[in-house]
Amino acid sequence: MSEEQNKIKLRVYRTNYSNDYSPRFDEYDIAVKRWTTVLDALLDAKAYSDSSIAIRYSCRMASCGSCGMKINGKPRLACYTKISELNSHTIVCEPLANFPRIRDLVTDFSQFFAHHKKIEPYVHNENVPTEVSNNDDLVEFKQTPEEVDKYLQFSYCIKCGLCYSACPTVATDAKFPGPQALSQAYRYMADNRDDGEKKRFKIIDERHGIWRCHFAGSCSNVCPKGVDPALGIQLLKGHLMGVSKHDKKIARVRTKEE
Ligand code: SF4
Ligand code: FES
Repeated sequence: MSEEQNKIKLRVYRTNYSNDYSPRFDEYDIAVKRWTTVLDALLDAKAYSDSSIAIRYSCRMASCGSCGMKINGKPRLACYTKISELNSHTIVCEPLANFPRIRDLVTDFSQFFAHHKKIEPYVHNENVPTEVSNNDDLVEFKQTPEEVDKYLQFSYCIKCGLCYSACPTVATDAKFPGPQALSQAYRYMADNRDDGEKKRFKIIDERHGIWRCHFAGSCSNVCPKGVDPALGIQLLKGHLMGVSKHDKKIARVRTKEE
């Protein structure tokens, strides 16, 4: 697309489930530039053509995770997707798959956040006193760069739900925690400040849990923050199977033999 203004056709999925409206696509002709994002185009349509279009967004800079939607068939952040990179003069916006729909492009994230909350996504540490009488009792927990590297990429998750939307297992089992929650379980397990491993393992090692993942990898393909949830899940499976303990055992046997 050249730097001059160009026109695209924006096709927007419209419905309102609370009023039982039949779904339809509305079309808007939008003038765009090389740097126009899909969110810009939607806001243009909302401002000048139809103020009733429902979209959710906040930061406009790929930080808050609220503008996720299906754009030309793929889960993406609307604020992080330039029209020019889509190489198409027709841009189709639909709500994210695997989420209940509320209205137009707005979906319900309750179940997604419930899964996230269930794995207790914060550092558990039995040795940290819950009450301290004076600041001298507080000790800094220092981590080496190597220790931080073990979980750093997973901590970049903005909870946008794109991976959850792309997951074929979530599509067939709403009780499956999904790639976001499972990779966050790994994020805390890999953090040497945390000792909540056993508790989280009980939560994810069950009928609808981690073993339902069959490593399709679509979660990692759509993550806008460079997180690799599929890798986190496989590493977590390894820990659950005692691979790390087994490796240590082998290492000990080798040392004896040597
Ligand atoms: S892992 Fe990536 S795609 Fe999934 S919720 Fe986090 S940031 Fe979004
Ligand atoms: S508006 Fe915040 S991530 Fe897009």
